[in-house]
Amino acid sequence: MTRAIYPGSFDPLTNGHLDVIERSARLFDEVIVAILTNPQKEPLFSVDERMDVLRRIVQPRLKNVRLDVFHGLLVDYAKKLQAQVIVRGIRAVSDYEYEFQMALMNRRLNPDIETVFMMPSESYSFLSSRLVKEVAQLGGSVKGLVPDLVEELLSKKLK
Ligand SMILES: Nc1ncnc2c1ncn2[C@@H]1O[C@H](COP(=O)(O)OP(=O)(O)O)[C@@H](O)[C@H]1O
Ligand SMILES: [Mg+2]
Repeated sequence: MTRAIYPGSFDPLTNGHLDVIERSARLFDEVIVAILTNPQKEPLFSVDERMDVLRRIVQPRLKNVRLDVFHGLLVDYAKKLQAQVIVRGIRAVSDYEYEFQMALMNRRLNPDIETVFMMPSESYSFLSSRLVKEVAQLGGSVKGLVPDLVEELLSKKLK
């Protein structure tokens, strides 16, 4: 039985994240989507708001996906949950450098845990939560890039 963790900020959840979650759910027996609370990042959505989105969008669709929140060292969290795999999404070359460093650091910290990179559909390969927030903040449409619920929450929050 292979358990994977997909950690991230999900601030907010985009269709790119969903693409990675769906691919992972097909590949692994169980996927834990975990919101990483990073004190260095100033999020737009609170952890509760982000969790609520995941609960309403991800949970009903995929039976082998669980949701969680964590802080601290990812490899410690993975060990605690007895997960063998860390899933990360990789878009353009620009993701590569940072993700590569992190994967090798995590391997050094715990050689038993493998990082697996998933490529989203090409239509989401330019998509990031940061860009979604910027576009929404400036009044542009993010339709088709995020779930409808997220689109609604963004326009409420930024009104
Ligand atoms: N459009 C996308 N397609 C594929 N992977 C993505 C996309 N957007 C984000 N990701 C991946 O999802 C993971 C979580 O991203 P994010 O929510 O930004 O959290 P983090 O703060 O860890 O970067 C990262 O591995 C990131 O590369
Ligand atoms: Mg990111």
